[in-house]
Amino acid sequence: MSKIDVVIMAAGKGTRMKSSMPKVLHRLGGRALLQHVIDTANHIQAHRVVVITGHGAEQVEAVLATQTGLEFVRQMPQLGTGHAMQQAVPLLDDEGVTLVLSGDVPLIQADTLLALLKLCDEQHLALLTLQTPTPAGYGRILRNLQQQVIGIVEEKDASEVQKKINEIYSGIMAVPTRLLRQWLVRLDNRNAQGEFYLTDVVGFAVADACEVKAYGIDQAWQVEGVNTPVQLAALERTYQQLQAQQLMQQGVRLADPARIDVRGELICGADVDIDINNVFEGRVTLGEGVRIGSNCVIINADIGAGTQVLGFTYIDGEDKGVRIGSGARIGPFARLRPGADLGDEVHIGNFVEVKNSSMAKGAKANHLAYLGDLSVGERVNYGAGVISANYDGANKHPTTIEADVHIGSNSVLVSPLTVGAGGTIGAGSVITKDTAPGALTVARGKQVSIPDWQRPVKKSK
Ligand code: UD1
Ligand code: MG
Repeated sequence: MSKIDVVIMAAGKGTRMKSSMPKVLHRLGGRALLQHVIDTANHIQAHRVVVITGHGAEQVEAVLATQTGLEFVRQMPQLGTGHAMQQAVPLLDDEGVTLVLSGDVPLIQADTLLALLKLCDEQHLALLTLQTPTPAGYGRILRNLQQQVIGIVEEKDASEVQKKINEIYSGIMAVPTRLLRQWLVRLDNRNAQGEFYLTDVVGFAVADACEVKAYGIDQAWQVEGVNTPVQLAALERTYQQLQAQQLMQQGVRLADPARIDVRGELICGADVDIDINNVFEGRVTLGEGVRIGSNCVIINADIGAGTQVLGFTYIDGEDKGVRIGSGARIGPFARLRPGADLGDEVHIGNFVEVKNSSMAKGAKANHLAYLGDLSVGERVNYGAGVISANYDGANKHPTTIEADVHIGSNSVLVSPLTVGAGGTIGAGSVITKDTAPGALTVARGKQVSIPDWQRPVKKSK
C-alpha cells in the first residue's frame, strides 16, 4: 500500500459538552478521546499523523507534546470540516492517500480503517458509512437509481425525503491526496450552516468521474461520536463491555462483566479471578491465578502469581508503581502507595498503609499500621498499630528492620533507625535508637500498681 497520511480533525468547539476543557481531551477508558484516535492511527503505520487543532489548541497540543511523530496544524477560525482540511493539505504527500478521522470518534478500529483504505485503492473516494434507525444529526448518503453514491447531504440542508435516508456518513473517509487537493480548492460555504463542508468533495468526485465507494459497517459504536456528557457516558459503557469481553476471551473470569472498569492496560495471566466492582487504571499486571476481591481500586501495579487481593483494597503506584510478589495476601481494606515493594508471601491486613517500603519474603503487617520508608526483612512480624515515624517535620528518614524481628503492638519506630535481626520490641515502645540483633527492647513507662488505692470521692456542697 502507498503512503498513508492520517489527518485527525480536532478543532471544533464541543459546545454541547458544556465544559471548559476542549472536547477531545475528555477521557474515555482513562485516555483522552483524541488519544484513542491517535493510538489507532499509530496501528496502521501512517506516514504522517496530522492533528488539526483550533478550539483550545494550546491545551490540546500541550497534552500531546511528548508524543513523537505528530504534527499540528492550527485552524483559526473554525469554518467547517472542509476548511479544516484546507489547512492540513499543504503538509500532505500527493503520492499517497489521506485518511480523515475525527478526534471525537474514539472507538474506530484499525482493521476497519485498513478495509476502507483497501477500498480506496489509491484511486477511489472511500466513505465509511453506517445503516442506522436513528440517522438524525448526521450527513445522509445520497445514491442514484443504480445505487451509486452521488453525494452527502447534511442534516441541516436535507429535505424531508432525504432526512428519511438511514445510511449516514461516519465522518471518516480515505481519498487519494492529489484529488483531495484539487477538490478542496473548489469548496464554498453556500449552505445552511455557512460552513465549508468536507462532504462536498463527494459531488466533485462524481463530476470528475472518480468512483465513490461506501464501506458500510454494522458496529455503530465504531463510528459513534461524543458530543454530550450523555454520549460520553454511553460510549464509556460500550468500551468497558468490549474490554470485559476481551478479558473473558483470554480466560479471565469476571464475576460480572458489567462491573469492571479498565482505564488503561490490564494484562492477566491464566486463571485470574476478578470479583465485582473493580477499577483498574494505568498499567496493571496480574500473574497466574491472582484473585481480586470485590470493590478494589488498582492503579499502576504488578501483582505476582497466586496473590490474593481481598475486598476494598486501594493500590495506587502512581509513577513509581507498586510491586507485589507471588503468594501474597493483601487486604481487606489495605492501602498500598507508590514504591510499595512486597515480596513473596507477604501479608498486609486491614487498615495497613504501605508507602515507599520494601518487605521481604514472608513479612507480615496484619492490622492497623503505617509503614513509610522502611526496609523490612524476611519473616518480620509488624504488630498491630505499629507506626513508622518517618517524618521529622522537615525531612523523611529511612528505617531498616532486619530479618525475623517481632515488633510489639502499638509501637512507634522513630526514623532513622535499624532494628537488629531476630530482635523483639516490646508492645507500646517508642524506639529512637538502633537495637542489637537478638535483643528484647522495651521503651515505655514501667507498669506500677498501688494496692488498695482509694478513688477520690465527690465533696458534698
Ligand atoms: C460531520 C459531517 C457529517 C457526518 C458527521 C459524523 C461534515 C460537513 N459533516 O458533521 O456528514 O455525518 O460529521 O460525525 O463534515 N472540526 C474541525 N474544524 C471545523 C469543524 C469541525 O476541526 O471547523 C472537527 C470537529 O472537531 C470534529 C469533526 O471535525 O472532530 C466533525 O465536526 P462536527 O462539527 O462534529 O461535524 P458534524 O456536524 O457532526
Ligand atoms: Mg458541525
